[in-house]
Amino acid sequence: ASEAKDYDVIFIGGGVAGYVGAIKAGQEGLKTACIEKRGMLGGTCLNVGCIPSKSLLNNSHLYHQILHDTKKRGIDVGDVKLNLKQMMKAKDESVAGLTKGVEFLFKKNGVDYIKGAGAFVNEHEVAVNLVDGGQTQIKGKNIVIATGSETTPFPGLTIDEKKVITSTGAIALEQVPKRMVVIGGGIIGLEMASVWSRLGSDVTVVEFLGQIGGPGMDADIAKQAHKILAKQGIKFKLGTKVTKGDASGDIVKLDVEAAKGGKQETLEAEVVLCAIGRRPYHEGLGLENIGVEVDERKRIVIDQEYRTNIPHIRVVGDCTFGPMLAHKAEEEAVAVVEFIKHGTGHVNYGAIPSVMYTHPEVAWVGQNEKELKDAGIKYNVGSFPFTANSRAKTNLDTDGMVKFLSDAETDRILGVHIIGANAGEMIAEGTLALEYGASSEDVARTCHAHPTLAEAFKEAAMATYSKAIHF
Ligand code: FAD
Ligand code: NAI
Repeated sequence: ASEAKDYDVIFIGGGVAGYVGAIKAGQEGLKTACIEKRGMLGGTCLNVGCIPSKSLLNNSHLYHQILHDTKKRGIDVGDVKLNLKQMMKAKDESVAGLTKGVEFLFKKNGVDYIKGAGAFVNEHEVAVNLVDGGQTQIKGKNIVIATGSETTPFPGLTIDEKKVITSTGAIALEQVPKRMVVIGGGIIGLEMASVWSRLGSDVTVVEFLGQIGGPGMDADIAKQAHKILAKQGIKFKLGTKVTKGDASGDIVKLDVEAAKGGKQETLEAEVVLCAIGRRPYHEGLGLENIGVEVDERKRIVIDQEYRTNIPHIRVVGDCTFGPMLAHKAEEEAVAVVEFIKHGTGHVNYGAIPSVMYTHPEVAWVGQNEKELKDAGIKYNVGSFPFTANSRAKTNLDTDGMVKFLSDAETDRILGVHIIGANAGEMIAEGTLALEYGASSEDVARTCHAHPTLAEAFKEAAMATYSKAIHF
């Protein structure tokens, strides 16, 4: 057999963490390989996550708006029909364009793309079962694990991606189900509930907690989101747990009861979406062969420099600690290469934004009120509703508000929480402010163009240490 090819760094997994790291490593002049078993680069995010879900969210929103929100704008439309096949095709085209783009970037930056499933043979060598058949073996001075995450299964319900689905099935349904039950009112649950409800499905979201949005979302904002999404037609059962599922017939039956015990009922639906969270994925990687430490929640254990207990083997993205977000994975990927090449790197985990792409969008960065209270930090609150913002008024899209939380003593911004159209774009300003340690007064004294939604952001900042002008 020929000698294994030598690399400075090997990335296992070609998702956002792996592909971004590989490009960065190529740019740094490191001899780099990236192993991906899916047959496509981009991982969950590009293939079955962020990108396809946003395509469907955007186009289902347009459809819903044309159906229900044009008359008052002076637009009379004729016969409006859903062409689901074409909507799915548009989604697939966006995905294909982006994954091909990553392949091009690999070539441009001299990264070897190895299509196959990687597994550790020893601490420096990785065997790859190639997608096209056969096997190869490569050797790395440094190896970065970036194998991502998978849906947490719901006990007792077998996923078939037709009747009982994960988000992967939810972005590929061939017809609009008459009824859909979503288990879990977190980000995936609410984004997918929005898509299918807008396209005509009767959607019920069952959430264990008393609040939607999953961990991190500020309670005030979550309450508003709940109200607005309910007005759009999504039904909610909060504080409710699913106790049993039966998918043996054409209709899936779910027994649910109050989380605290008590009232029971059976829900029926053509399709049930399991969206109770995701867990790290590193199956078949052979971590046990080399003794890499994994914790009780399947996260691969790392130190501040992303090193496992075997220091030249590092981990970034969903398969280790922290929020399971593409942009978090991307920041870590750049930092890990900087550690490998230069010995220093940095990610500010206190300034990672979160966005839920419903309509209106929900976006936040930094701490929420509950977290500040729990930490015993004294803070001021400033908020501004979009009903008082001129651009939102002209857009006839005034649901939501901006809320600032800043330190009671120093006025330093501790958190920004937005619900409103374009919140996902607007949060970038909050993230920058947080990253630079700005005060709410710094933001309020920065000139914002008129008329823009961003003026609501400025006025909420103003309301934190003084008074808003327009409310
Ligand atoms: P992944 O993207 O999961 O990539 C890991 C890759 O490794 C996979 O392609 C896998 O095939 C490969 N792999 C695994 N094992 C091996 C092996 N042994 N050999 C070779 N290859 C292997 N995040 C956001 O920030 N914004 C969003 O809008 C957003 N929307 C989402 C919507 C949905 C429906 C889902 C499910 C997720 C969404 N996320 C979003 C989360 C985001 O997709 C993840 O945080 C991100 O993909 C993590 O990147 P990663 O590279 O760590 O892992
Ligand atoms: P999540 O953790 O956001 O939400 C899961 C929800 O399910 C929680 O509210 C939880 O209380 C609830 N739950 C758990 N067990 C339950 C049960 N037995 N019955 C009823 N409810 C139950 O997880 P989700 O939505 O699956 O998303 C997974 C990850 O994907 C998230 O970490 C998120 O960061 C990422 N993602 C990000 C997106 C974005 O940035 N826009 C979009 C989609 C996913």
